[in-house]
Amino acid sequence: MRSEFQRQTSELLKEAQLKAEAHGLHVTAMEWEWLLEFASGISKMERLLGSVAPTKADWESVFHSGLNRRLQGEPIQYILGSTEFYGRKFAVGPSVLIPRPETESLVEWAADIGNRQTAPRILDIGTGSGCIAVSLALEVPGSEVRAIDCSREALAVARSNASTLGASVDFERTDVLNDAIPDPPYSLIVSNPPYVPVEEMEEMQREVRDYEPHVALFAGRDPLLFYRKFAETLRTTLRSGGYIGMEIHAQFGPEVAKLFVDNGWRNVMVKQDLAGMDRFVVASVD
Ligand SMILES: C[S@@+](CC[C@H](N)C(=O)[O-])C[C@H]1O[C@@H](n2cnc3c(N)ncnc32)[C@H](O)[C@@H]1O
Repeated sequence: MRSEFQRQTSELLKEAQLKAEAHGLHVTAMEWEWLLEFASGISKMERLLGSVAPTKADWESVFHSGLNRRLQGEPIQYILGSTEFYGRKFAVGPSVLIPRPETESLVEWAADIGNRQTAPRILDIGTGSGCIAVSLALEVPGSEVRAIDCSREALAVARSNASTLGASVDFERTDVLNDAIPDPPYSLIVSNPPYVPVEEMEEMQREVRDYEPHVALFAGRDPLLFYRKFAETLRTTLRSGGYIGMEIHAQFGPEVAKLFVDNGWRNVMVKQDLAGMDRFVVASVD
């Protein structure tokens, strides 16, 4: 027999889905499950298996307040205050980009390179929530990791994530387009810089356009701005045999690769994400 909680939650989940459809929003069933778990303190498995009762008295009002925020278009990760990245939970808020699953492939590539280097020194440019830097600090034992961002608010979130997850990362406010790179040389540089052309702003999902920080998304009129700067200036900040790996917009693989070839980098390669889209460019120095 279904418990009172099971009956109530199944109605709430249906109501949430209907409201989302009426608002013209595409919300996955998983998002409502996350919100329900967040509000009630009961996992989906616990709820489906037994006659559990929620641990929080105000769980329904927490669910409804989250539902209303989601119906306005706010991403579920900001409502929950966290997201999973590379098997760990990262706090997120409006001052940082929500880490994306495709970026995990960049971490996988970088961890593999870092673990084959002697005394790896890693730099993450545009660290945001710190998801790449913190993951690498934990996945590459013995590495020295530094992470920079121009946003003080983002750096505060990143520092807090590093501390919660027990990662040793040096954070520093640096504008990579105008300031010198701190404390070179590195053996590995990683970056997921802003790369969305401003022309795409109108057609973007409203969750992204209206809620995620524009400084993290858009590179102004020149979507290659950051890659041009990296290709022209970062060779001298790498140790001999060092690597760079960057996330890119799927449309610009060949253009980004050409910038690196033209600037004398070696082993320049465009790599694909799990969906088969061009998503990364990697290169090395002699
Ligand atoms: C696409 S987000 C990436 C965040 C995080 N690394 C990730 O992968 O989820 C780009 C980051 O670059 C930072 N950024 C933008 N312009 C910058 C600049 N000129 N110098 C340093 N960081 C910058 C933004 O604040 C933002 O945190």
